[in-house]
Amino acid sequence: MYKKLFIPGPSHVRDEILLAQAAPMIGHRAKEYSDLQAEVTPKLQKLLYTNQRVYLFASSSTGVMEGSIRQASLKKMLVTVCGAFSKRWHEIVVDNGIACDKLEVTSGQAITVELVDQALSLGDYDAITLTMNETATGITNPIQEIAAMIHARYPDVLILVDAVSCMAGIKIEFDAWGLDVCFAGTQKCFALPPGLTVCAVSERARQRGKAIPHHGHYFAYDIMDKHYEKFQTPATPAISLIQALNKQMDDILASGLENRWARHAEMAEYVRGWARKYFKIYGDERFASNTVTNVENTRGISVSDLNKELGKRGAMISNGYGDLKDKCFRIAHMGDLTLGDLQWLTAQINDILGLNEQG
Ligand SMILES: Cc1ncc(COP(=O)(O)O)c(C=O)c1O
Repeated sequence: MYKKLFIPGPSHVRDEILLAQAAPMIGHRAKEYSDLQAEVTPKLQKLLYTNQRVYLFASSSTGVMEGSIRQASLKKMLVTVCGAFSKRWHEIVVDNGIACDKLEVTSGQAITVELVDQALSLGDYDAITLTMNETATGITNPIQEIAAMIHARYPDVLILVDAVSCMAGIKIEFDAWGLDVCFAGTQKCFALPPGLTVCAVSERARQRGKAIPHHGHYFAYDIMDKHYEKFQTPATPAISLIQALNKQMDDILASGLENRWARHAEMAEYVRGWARKYFKIYGDERFASNTVTNVENTRGISVSDLNKELGKRGAMISNGYGDLKDKCFRIAHMGDLTLGDLQWLTAQINDILGLNEQG
C-alpha cells in the first residue's frame, strides 16, 4: 500500500506531477529544452519575488551547499548552527578549508538578529550561512530581520540561505530581503521527486564568485552563466524533473502564492494545536516552523511502532533527527498536503495511541 508521506522530505507527490515526468525526452541542446527552461525560470522568479538569476542544478541541496560556500568568501565566513542540517553546512565549510567561525545555539533555539549582530561585530567576515528552516528541530529562523540588520551594519557580508525545507512553503522575498544565495531541493515544499535544486543568486554574489580563485566547477555561477542566457545548463540537466517542475509551478501560481503560504500556516497551526494538546512542541515555539512540527515525545511512545501502525493505514511520519531520535517525532505539513490530510493523520494517531478527546 502507498504510504502518504508526512515526513519532511521527500514529500507526497501528486499523480499529475509524477506523470509530468513521463513526458517524451528532449535533447538538452535542442530548442525544446531551451523553451522549457525559458518557461520555468520566470515562474521560479515569481515564487521567490526576484529579478535575479535562478539556476537549476541536477543535484540534491548538499551539492549546492558546497558550491555556494566555495564562491562566497575571500576573508572569513560566519556559519550559523542551530541543528543537524546547519551543522552539516559548517562541516562542508571546514572540509573545503574555508576560514570560518561558528555561531551555534542550543538545539530548539533560533538564530536571532542580536546573536548574529554580536558575532559579526567580532570578526572580519564577508559571508554568512543561515538555515531558514532547520528541519531537524522544526525551527524557522528570522531571515528577513537578520538580513535587514546585515544590510544596515555589515554591507559586505554575503547572505547565503539554505531554504531547503521551506522554499515554496513559506514566503521568501529574495530581492526585498536582499538575499544573495537561496536554494532548495525539489523534494520538500515543491512536492516533486528529489534530484533537482533551485538556487537564486544575486548579481553581487555572482561577482564575488568570479573573484574567488578555485571556486569549483559544477556549481560555479560563472560556468552556469555561459549558458544561462541561452536557457541551458553547462552539464546535462534533470530534464524529467524540470518538466514536472514546470507543471507544478503552473499549478502553484494558478492557486495563488498567498494561498500557498496561508495553507502552510493553517496546516502548521492545526498540527501545533494537536501537539500542544497531546504532547509538547519542541524548542522555542515563537519560531515554530510552518512546514514541519517537531513534537516532543512527552508520552514516551515508541515512534517506530506508531509508524508501523500508521503504515498499515497508509501514512508515514518521521522520527526525531539524530540526537532527537525517539525523543521527538516530526510531522511535515508541506508541499501539496492539505488541512484535511493533517486532520486525517492526527485522527489516525489518536486512534492508534488511544488518545481521547480530553488527551
Ligand atoms: C535544511 C536542510 N538543508 C539541507 C538538506 C540536505 O538536502 P539533501 O539531502 O537533499 O542534499 C536538508 C535535507 O533534509 C535539509 O532539511
